[in-house]
Amino acid sequence: SSLDELYRRVIMDHYQSPRNRGEIEDADATIQLKNPTCGDQIRLQMKIDDGKIIDCKFDGEGCSISMASASMMTEAIKGLDVNDALDLADRFSKMMLGKDVDTEDFEDIEALQGVCKFPARIKCATLSWKAMEKGINECGCDHDHK
Ligand code: FES
Ligand code: FES
Repeated sequence: SSLDELYRRVIMDHYQSPRNRGEIEDADATIQLKNPTCGDQIRLQMKIDDGKIIDCKFDGEGCSISMASASMMTEAIKGLDVNDALDLADRFSKMMLGKDVDTEDFEDIEALQGVCKFPARIKCATLSWKAMEKGINECGCDHDHK
C-alpha cells in the first residue's frame, strides 16, 4: 500500500542520511550493544548534564532497520530529561509489540512498527533503544531517576 511505501521511504531516508552518527569525545555514557541473533553491533554515546541528554551519537554496523531506528532514536531523545527518554523507550517497545500508545511526539518512528511485523525485525528496531536505556542506567552520574 502507499502507507507501506511511505514507511519504507522514511526508513531509507534515515538509513542513507543518518542523524547523529559519529562520536562524542567526552561522553558520559558509552554503550556497545550486540544483537545476538545476527551479530550486528551498535555503539551509543550520550552526554548527560544535570539529568538532561545534551548530546547523543551512534555508530555501528547493522541492517537498515537497526540503523534507521538508531538515527530516529537519537533525534527523539536529544534535549530530553533522562526520565522522559526512559518513558519514550517504554512507549517505543510497547508500540513495537503492537500496543496502542501515544506516538504523537515520535510520528516518524511509527514507520518502524509499520515495517517490523516479525520478532526478528523488532529486535533490530529496539537495539539502539536498549542501548539508550542501559546507558542512562549505567552512566555513573548521581542523577536521580527511575
Ligand atoms: Fe542485525 Fe537487524 S539484522 S540488527
Ligand atoms: Fe546518570 Fe542515570 S543519567 S545515572
